[in-house]
Amino acid sequence: MTSLDIAIELAQKAGDPPKPPLVVGLGGTLSPSSSTEKAIQISLDGAAEGGAEILLIPGPSLEMPIYAWERKERTPEAQNLIAVLRRADGIIIGSPGYHGSISGLVKNALDYTQDMAEDEWPYFHGRPVGSITTGAGWQGAVTTLTALRGIVHALRGWNTPLGVAINTAQRMFDDNGKCLDAKIDTMLRDMGREVAESARVRALMRGARNDPNSIGSDNDE
Ligand SMILES: Cc1cc2nc3c(=O)[nH]c(=O)nc-3n(C[C@H](O)[C@H](O)[C@H](O)COP(=O)(O)O)c2cc1C
Repeated sequence: MTSLDIAIELAQKAGDPPKPPLVVGLGGTLSPSSSTEKAIQISLDGAAEGGAEILLIPGPSLEMPIYAWERKERTPEAQNLIAVLRRADGIIIGSPGYHGSISGLVKNALDYTQDMAEDEWPYFHGRPVGSITTGAGWQGAVTTLTALRGIVHALRGWNTPLGVAINTAQRMFDDNGKCLDAKIDTMLRDMGREVAESARVRALMRGARNDPNSIGSDNDE
């Protein structure tokens, strides 16, 4: 019996119809034509095809003061980020490679998950996480992907088997966000579906327990 079977049994005992998982995408850059953001959106579309509800937190919504644990005040953007991540059953993160690693914008946003340290599900505990990186060359994109997957691991997230590194030295996306490389497009969608599939376990468990962070629970505001 797999954990999904157990979760389905729990949900059936509770008598509730299974709730769709929420997959949250976050990342990109401040550029209005961010290729990283376009890649995240395609992967989220794959998650939606896999039955998930999806939500994108794009680069401009991640512009927040440098995370400082000692400071207790939080901007509306920071409060929204943490509120959404608490509800997330699966996560897709996208970062450009900046000087050999993930960008400060994305890292700073991830540092805010320190505010989830005391949660029942701390950081990314129990959530599948898909990683996407872009770079003006394969080396930068791939080293950044390794760095990002290491951070996900540190945050107790479950890296999906598939991660996607994209070399944006060639034109990869058109102005409407369509991916011009069929293989990359398939990888992004497949990874989104992988996240959605694993995210169902957490959604079912939360639904069975009527967890307030579950979509459609009685405690929804
Ligand atoms: C400050 C800065 C540093 C960068 N450093 C690297 C790097 O080390 N390696 C690399 O391959 N690309 C690097 N790039 C290129 C970006 O990773 C690449 O253009 C990326 O696709 C931009 O993402 P966006 O289209 O979402 O803005 C850098 C770009 C900037 C602005």
